[in-house]
Amino acid sequence: MSLTVSRDRVENLLKASARSDVPPFMVMDVMAAAARIEAAGGHVIHMEVGQPEHAAPRTALAAAQAALTGSRLDYTSALGIPSLRQRIARYYRDTQDCVIDPDRIVVTTGSSGAFILAFLALFEPGDRVAVTVPGYPPYRHILSALGCDVVPIETSAASRHALTGDMLLAAHRKAPLKGVLVASPANPTGTMMTREALAGLITAAESEGIRFISDEIYHGLDYAFPAVTAASLSPHALVINSFSKYFCMTGWRVGWMVVPDELVRPIERLQQNLAISVPTLSQIAAEGAFDGTAEMDDVKHGYEINRRLLIDGLPKAGLKRFLPVDGAFYLYADVSDFTHDSLDFAKRMLEQAHVAATPGVDFDPVHGRAFVRFCYAGSAPDMTEAVERIGQWLARG
Ligand SMILES: Cc1ncc(COP(=O)(O)O)c(C=O)c1O
Repeated sequence: MSLTVSRDRVENLLKASARSDVPPFMVMDVMAAAARIEAAGGHVIHMEVGQPEHAAPRTALAAAQAALTGSRLDYTSALGIPSLRQRIARYYRDTQDCVIDPDRIVVTTGSSGAFILAFLALFEPGDRVAVTVPGYPPYRHILSALGCDVVPIETSAASRHALTGDMLLAAHRKAPLKGVLVASPANPTGTMMTREALAGLITAAESEGIRFISDEIYHGLDYAFPAVTAASLSPHALVINSFSKYFCMTGWRVGWMVVPDELVRPIERLQQNLAISVPTLSQIAAEGAFDGTAEMDDVKHGYEINRRLLIDGLPKAGLKRFLPVDGAFYLYADVSDFTHDSLDFAKRMLEQAHVAATPGVDFDPVHGRAFVRFCYAGSAPDMTEAVERIGQWLARG
């Protein structure tokens, strides 16, 4: 027996909420086009996705394998396995000389899961939250899906593409802000903030009661100078990190937060309800990853070689201008000598030179029309080949 439902009711049943109407990630379209070229036998050099080519540390894989031959994988505490939280705290002590109470550490499903918990714990619908432009698109999309007002603040070469206290306070004076989110090293720019710049921004934010959120997912991948954690500068900052990048564990979907004391319990309650806990196998692997830092430092060394190949090679190929290549594994190139339509530029470069990169419009709808992001997390021979192909392609006009 089938139910008879009127047409307008059916339309209502099928309608997605307005808040779910977030823009897609354009890099996915580039990936799909690259896959079509590969299916037809072409060899594409992938510089579009921000994903390490290397696998998870061997120590992480061994820990996961051992867990699989054990008995059960149960739920864990919503805040994460206690020994993992302690190990994360130790990592701060070892790498940043920063003492953090393990009770302030929350294990999350990647940093992506951390954003949802953090934004829910910190903001009400309608709160204004500042993010930098260019910037990682899901910041804006998650905030708006949760009903927050995103306040984009444009960065420029004048501040090495970092947000400054003055810029933040100027936006705050127009209409009060509740929060601000920055990343250093940043995506897509690959630029970093010095300790002084970060400290200045945190002081400016907190003196006005603006919550400071620091996305530190690219920590460990710093080349210009050491990255500084906001956790060492303020107990009120909310720090987000992940095993995806330095530890090469994107698909394991595990990350963490360092949260101010008063937010531990609210975030625990949210996590209990939203996810119960983070996948247990991934947490076990993540704990094992900390014994694999020597292997990961070798991977980082490979990125440093790639970075040098691009910094030296791209200008000869014709891409003479790019932002300071400080950290992460991105180079953000100014292609305004050739185009003001980076989507078309990236499409043609893919079709004609078989080099895949991400159009800047993914990160900045306006100025991004003149920028392309290259990810250098691949192999050194691929970087050399990419530079050659780009040079020949640009020379052909
Ligand atoms: C700046 C930044 N933050 C967060 C993420 C999300 O990473 P994950 O959820 O894998 O930790 C990414 C992924 O590329 C990123 O570039």
